[in-house]
Amino acid sequence: MQAMVEIADARKTYAGGFEALKGVSLDIRKGEILALLGPNGAGKTTLISCICGLAVPTGGAIRVGGHDVVDEYRRARNLIGLVPQEVNLEPFERVWNTVRFTRGLFGRPRDDARLEDILRRLSLWDKRDAKINELSGGMKRRVLIAKALSHDPEVLFLDEPTAGVDVELRRDMWEIVAGLKAQGTTIILTTHYIEEAEAIADRIGVIARGELLLVEETAALMARMGRKELRIELSSRLDAVPAALSGFDLALEEDGWTLVYAYDRSAERTGIARLMSAMGDAGIVLRDLRTHQSSLEEIFVDLVHGERSEGAA
Ligand SMILES: Nc1ncnc2c1ncn2[C@@H]1O[C@H](COP(=O)(O)OP(=O)(O)OP(=O)(O)O)[C@@H](O)[C@H]1O
Ligand SMILES: [Mg+2]
Repeated sequence: MQAMVEIADARKTYAGGFEALKGVSLDIRKGEILALLGPNGAGKTTLISCICGLAVPTGGAIRVGGHDVVDEYRRARNLIGLVPQEVNLEPFERVWNTVRFTRGLFGRPRDDARLEDILRRLSLWDKRDAKINELSGGMKRRVLIAKALSHDPEVLFLDEPTAGVDVELRRDMWEIVAGLKAQGTTIILTTHYIEEAEAIADRIGVIARGELLLVEETAALMARMGRKELRIELSSRLDAVPAALSGFDLALEEDGWTLVYAYDRSAERTGIARLMSAMGDAGIVLRDLRTHQSSLEEIFVDLVHGERSEGAA
């Protein structure tokens, strides 16, 4: 099946010469939730802006629903709902009009029942006659979401929808996202909260310095997180992992003083007892043992700092 969003070698160099996207390739399946993680300045908003037609890519090609975002801008844009990172609302407009206006902009027929449903789900119904400048920051964020949903988009982009919002809105947002996914909407969100990505995303992409470092099923990433390491400090230095231990998933640290054994924490047999006895047979004497578990947070930090790039997409 054709991907809903196809990104092929997308590049963006801003007018000043800054290269914000250095060739990003990614296909986003219809109906999936993809979370983009990455530090400040990684290029997340730039990528979204290029997909949504707010910025023109300087290289590569992007299609949404099969439509090129530059050559067929209107067709592509019509399929997209965008919740931008920055609040950009008319301060003196009323909530109801703001949302209805957006639906109209996209050429959708008036459907007040639909808009009422959206406003109710976002707990904005009571505020429908309030002016934007009478709303709190979190409420303004809800209005942005209502606007993005007002024209029933097939693809929804949420650029840090839960930055600075309270727990309640975060929960509401997750619920709305789950509901939209159930209806077949494709959702791409950026977040700085790893737990959030874990909780709602089917796949997680990590972006840093304009490059996509990894895209992986959340479950697979979690399985990786389940990996645990046994660090074995040796009483004498080794030059290489001894042949007698080649059957184990062992790595020798560069200095030759530590063997690292990676095992699956959830496996019935960790193989540690077997390893210990094999080491004894091989005449290797150990000085100390430590276990270490890598978290998604660590995997993320390592990736972003370029220390662990073997999983790169
Ligand atoms: N209009 C612009 N002109 C020049 N440089 C820009 C422009 N917009 C963004 N940049 C630069 O591109 C890089 C990527 O910015 P971008 O906003 O895409 O990052 P981000 O991943 O969304 O970060 P954050 O997590 O802070 O939102 C940054 O170095 C930024 O300064
Ligand atoms: Mg951003």
